[in-house]
Amino acid sequence: MATQLSQFIDVYKAELETKLQTIITTIAAPDILIQAMDYSLQAGGKRIRPMLLFATMSAFRKNPLMGMEAAAALEMIHTYSLVHDDLPSMDDDDLRRGKPTNHKVFGEATAILAGDALLTHAFKVIAQSKEYSNEQKVWLIDWLSQAAGPAGMVGGQMADMEGEHKQLTLEELEYIHKHKTGQLLEFSVMAGAFLSGATEAQLQHFQTYAKHIGLAFQIQDDILDVEGLEEKIGKRVGSDVNKHKSTYPSLLTLSGAKEKLQEHLSQALEAIEKTNTDAELLKKLAHLIADRDQ
Ligand code: IPE
Ligand code: IPE
Ligand code: MG
Ligand code: MG
Ligand code: MG
Repeated sequence: MATQLSQFIDVYKAELETKLQTIITTIAAPDILIQAMDYSLQAGGKRIRPMLLFATMSAFRKNPLMGMEAAAALEMIHTYSLVHDDLPSMDDDDLRRGKPTNHKVFGEATAILAGDALLTHAFKVIAQSKEYSNEQKVWLIDWLSQAAGPAGMVGGQMADMEGEHKQLTLEELEYIHKHKTGQLLEFSVMAGAFLSGATEAQLQHFQTYAKHIGLAFQIQDDILDVEGLEEKIGKRVGSDVNKHKSTYPSLLTLSGAKEKLQEHLSQALEAIEKTNTDAELLKKLAHLIADRDQ
């Protein structure tokens, strides 16, 4: 990883984690609920979505910290999606971010409620921000609820569950990936660009970049489920095969999936050139997303 990017990640990951900690400790709620929320939020994780948001702001030479509340809300929603994704009624996984999954530690009822709490409180974090104008808050809440909701991530998760034990077409699989994963990655980039005052034309190129990054990210997730190392990915290897999921490797073979991933990487890099911004970090993040082993 390029030094400049790794320094950027070190600095802003630490800032984000401090922010998440502050958010959690100022909520008035039953102790066990706070503990369960905090457990999954602080369990580690790459924080790739916040990094995309911050790096997009830095492409406009804006202070990334101005995006902090949007980034924290985004990471809370992403974390809730993982807590629910791991439940016995969904992917039934016992390891996440290198630790036992939330329901293994706190039980199913608390895990469901911790997920609900992270989702709901995320919107409060944006609504109460002192950083954004009312117009910016409405834009962020509108986009984030769209990206996370039934026409976004939740819709993708539904299609993923319905697709178990079925041979899906590539088109159906692409729908799943674009929604269950792509939408929140898209929000990351779009929120950063919007908060930086991007023009309509720039927003369109950032959106194209983000769409390809989103697909590349989930294709690599599918690949790592086959050939990743448990100690690196912090999850069980082979979870998709065990749950009879259609994935890029299962539909296209491993080498076909890798080829597709490279195509999306090239298209993302092509789009970012057209934004006319200082997008070095976003280019490096695209490579990191495609090459990652965790
Ligand atoms: C895992 O997301 C779920 C997917 C959408 C592929 P990440 O790979 O970003 O998980 P963390 O946040 O690093 O744990
Ligand atoms: C989940 O996709 C995407 C979410 C919305 C959580 P996966 O089920 O492939 O994610 P992992 O592999 O469990 O992290
Ligand atoms: Mg899943
Ligand atoms: Mg899963
Ligand atoms: Mg997966």
